[in-house]
Amino acid sequence: MTPQHSSAPHTALATATRHRDWWRDAVIYQVYPRSFADSNGDGMGDLEGVRSRLPYLRDLGVDAVWLSPFYSSPQADAGYDVADYRAVDPMFGTLLDADALIRDAHGHGLRIIVDLVPNHSSDQHEWFKRALADGPGSPLRDRYHFRSGKGENGELPPNDWESIFGGPAWTRVTEPDGTPGEWYLHLFAPEQPDFNWEHPAVGDEFRSILRFWLDMGVDGFRIDVAHGLVKAEGLPDLGSHDQLKLLGNDVMPFFDQDGVHAIYRQWRTILDEYAGERIFVAEAWTPTVERTANYVRPDELHQAFNFQYLSTAWDAGELRSVIDATLTAMRPVGAPATWVLSNHDVTRHATRFANPPGLGTQIRTAGDRALGLGRARAASLLMLALPGSAYVYQGEELGLPDVVDLPDEVRQDPAYFRGEGQDGFRDGCRVPIPWTRTGSAYGFGGGGSWLPQPEGWGELSVEAQTGVAGSTLELYRAALSLRRSERDLGAGESLEWLRAPEGVLAFRRGGFVCVANTTAESVTVPAYGPVLLASGEFGEADGETKIPGDTTVWFGTPAV
Ligand code: GLC
Repeated sequence: MTPQHSSAPHTALATATRHRDWWRDAVIYQVYPRSFADSNGDGMGDLEGVRSRLPYLRDLGVDAVWLSPFYSSPQADAGYDVADYRAVDPMFGTLLDADALIRDAHGHGLRIIVDLVPNHSSDQHEWFKRALADGPGSPLRDRYHFRSGKGENGELPPNDWESIFGGPAWTRVTEPDGTPGEWYLHLFAPEQPDFNWEHPAVGDEFRSILRFWLDMGVDGFRIDVAHGLVKAEGLPDLGSHDQLKLLGNDVMPFFDQDGVHAIYRQWRTILDEYAGERIFVAEAWTPTVERTANYVRPDELHQAFNFQYLSTAWDAGELRSVIDATLTAMRPVGAPATWVLSNHDVTRHATRFANPPGLGTQIRTAGDRALGLGRARAASLLMLALPGSAYVYQGEELGLPDVVDLPDEVRQDPAYFRGEGQDGFRDGCRVPIPWTRTGSAYGFGGGGSWLPQPEGWGELSVEAQTGVAGSTLELYRAALSLRRSERDLGAGESLEWLRAPEGVLAFRRGGFVCVANTTAESVTVPAYGPVLLASGEFGEADGETKIPGDTTVWFGTPAV
């Protein structure tokens, strides 16, 4: 028998646990620490801020909190460039603050999932700094991907891969003697050198980092760029292909290589040594849901984000096919489906759905805000009615839109978007959230906010929506409460589609029916039972229910 580590979850969490396999139907709330709550008035959110708002998250009715990185970092990519994986960056607090946050969360019955960034470190990580300083031939360079350049004098990058943020995926270093020297690989910003996972020291280090945070009591890890760790043998050129077109549609020599799975099988054995059902969730952008399912085979990770769902338009036909494909792909591996509409990397769904379909997940126009909000509310109710686990990104429960008019000089996102030639699309979904109607930074903190909040932000605040019937916040609270206590909606792995008018999705799950009208017109459907919750107005007469355009309705029905 494997010995179980002693850092079992704190007692309140243990008693709050409803059943085994809590993660199979959990609602997991993503906190982006920079933008959630600022306790010390420096304009930047921090761990103490998160801790002070835990009662809000408990009352919202989520099961777990995923925190984006708060580790020591120069912040070249908002903390996804880690300099020390075992330290908290002073701008977010201290390790003691992390400890207090984990304990308090458990005291409220909430679990904590931290972000692990294993594909790359910061260029300020000790290993990388020493690799540079030691010069060519240094064994420390083998922990990253250093190569000589092509061309007569090594002046060309070693291969044709491009960075996800734009430009070549290689940067040439200046050697300690001042001459232009080797190149190193960075799939993201130049400040994010990729680790060489063929090197045993890299694996050893990450297994130790896992244990460090497990011993601190975290309940799991979100694995950043989980599909990127292993690169194809010899780092082959892509050839004449347009990388941007292939990304997400094909297995790449640097993404979704089969070799990554051996790493996760090893990690799983570590996690399973610890008490308390801790989990891994993969950020794995793969070409198909079937390939995503490979990451959640029984001896690998527990969940993987469903980016195919996130990228789907507000369209009944498209939604139905991605829902079916997801449930079908997950069934053979026994993993729960996951559902997600927003996160810190994409335009919020209230703004995506305010714009015409087909613009992708990075959008710069506000579109029709009222339409977007109506559809976002309907989409959220649909998502929360599906079997499996759902992810909620901070502020979506307030119906926040993206801030599309941030001035260029305040943007911080290193991403570069081809064609537009402008930095910073992702900042629009990262603007600090409003807690109060008025006051400094609308209650975010006492010293402004690192990205400016737009005028009128306070009208969307927690304070403005609390207790207001029909507000988006109260809609989420009601949905989460029904999902959890009365109907156990996340449970199971299937649904039964019902006949429905064109553009309408209707499905039954036990004693529950969900109808989502994705068209602009009202439709009439049978009154399946008493209405439990609706994302907008609805009408009832003569055994029928009238559902306006862009509205979702939940019905309670006798179980069949
Ligand atoms: C992931 C993160 C994103 C980050 C990138 C590089 O995609 O979600 O925010 O920029 O990895 O670490």
